[in-house]
Amino acid sequence: MANVGTLPMEDRKVSLREVAEFADNLEPFSDNLREQILAPRPRKVAPIYTISELAEMCSLTRQQIQYLVTRDDASLPTGTLNGNGRSRTFTLPEVRAWVKMASDVYQTRLGNEDGNFKGKVLTTAQLKGGSAKTTTTVCLAQALTLLGRNVLLIDLDPQASASELCGLYAEKEISGEDTVLPYIYDHNIEGGLSGKVQSTYWDGLDIIPGHTFLYGAEFLLPARQKTVQGYRFWAVLRQGLEPLRSQYDYILIDTSPSLSYMNLNALLAADALVMPMIPENLDFISSLAFWRLFSDVAEDFLPYEEDKVYEFISILLSKVDYGKTSSAPVVRQWAQSAYGRWLDPFEIPSSSVMSGGALSFSTALDVVSTHSTAKSLQRVRQPMMQYARWLDDMFVKSWKESA
Ligand SMILES: Nc1ncnc2c1ncn2[C@@H]1O[C@H](COP(=O)(O)OP(=O)(O)OP(=O)(O)O)[C@@H](O)[C@H]1O
Ligand SMILES: [Mg+2]
Repeated sequence: MANVGTLPMEDRKVSLREVAEFADNLEPFSDNLREQILAPRPRKVAPIYTISELAEMCSLTRQQIQYLVTRDDASLPTGTLNGNGRSRTFTLPEVRAWVKMASDVYQTRLGNEDGNFKGKVLTTAQLKGGSAKTTTTVCLAQALTLLGRNVLLIDLDPQASASELCGLYAEKEISGEDTVLPYIYDHNIEGGLSGKVQSTYWDGLDIIPGHTFLYGAEFLLPARQKTVQGYRFWAVLRQGLEPLRSQYDYILIDTSPSLSYMNLNALLAADALVMPMIPENLDFISSLAFWRLFSDVAEDFLPYEEDKVYEFISILLSKVDYGKTSSAPVVRQWAQSAYGRWLDPFEIPSSSVMSGGALSFSTALDVVSTHSTAKSLQRVRQPMMQYARWLDDMFVKSWKESA
């Protein structure tokens, strides 16, 4: 251990003004880091898929794919031949086209002329910071596009991590104007939030990004509630999303680790909730506190929301440590007792490919599989894809019921 007794006792006083001005000194750090990590435009590129990966996603064999590719009618994308014609690869848009046309995935009524289709809103929430909310939301969004779905991601977190994972350079390329905030200020904007949608490097995934200014909502919403008669501070986002629901199969909302006014909007806009939870003591206690807080604030709006029903609430164990000394078995049991059916059987293992991915602003679905990482990647990709399929099945059931 370092001998702390030898450290010089220099003056460490910091005035509030200095703290306030400190951010300017830090800017070069984040700029440099990003420049080192993020390649020049296009900052992120979607993966290229092998024929085996395509076959798995379509539930077909490689041979069936080969046959369909070489058939004459050429309705399916043929991919690109590499290595003197020995291997064939497919881009993300090609894979999505295959999944839509050649797999048995249920075709939603998205884009149907009657305009009756309503996409589903899924909110990820948890009080505890660092509980894999953003990772889960972005991976799920990507996984759902691989099921052929069209997905919109809404980043409500002032930290804007989901926006960064989607290849946007949060501090430089996004302003408060680009977020949901202008709509929160003026909910009479025509088309609701439609004007704020941006496309990303990932086919089928659009985003309304986040920005530090989103904090503004925490002052505005309660102030309006006090001064404007009949104002429903919890329903503003839901109203803004309404026009977008006919344009996407799914709208996924990533929230900050709090029960802020903005997050309450996300909870009330949702058709279903996902709560990622690391099976550790403090995370579990924090998850219980989330529901306590929610039920306390819900008293304000419950009388107006008697018809509100979630199609499901899903607790997803994340970053699960399967080591001998892990607290996961004990906490899993507590979670089972506390959450019963809400605790779903899917678990995302703790894995260095997930934490390492964050270093390059990428997710487990972005990272290109190599011989040495294939197994570890599969360990996290597989449950994530299974979870996405399960969520999709739940919503397909609901779409079919309302058809
Ligand atoms: N399965 C996993 N294994 C290992 N590390 C993971 C895993 N999932 C996420 N992580 C890492 O954990 C950290 C926190 O994840 P993430 O940012 O998704 O959490 P969060 O709940 O969104 O955090 P915040 O509360 O700050 O918004 C990140 O560095 C991420 O790369
Ligand atoms: Mg986050």
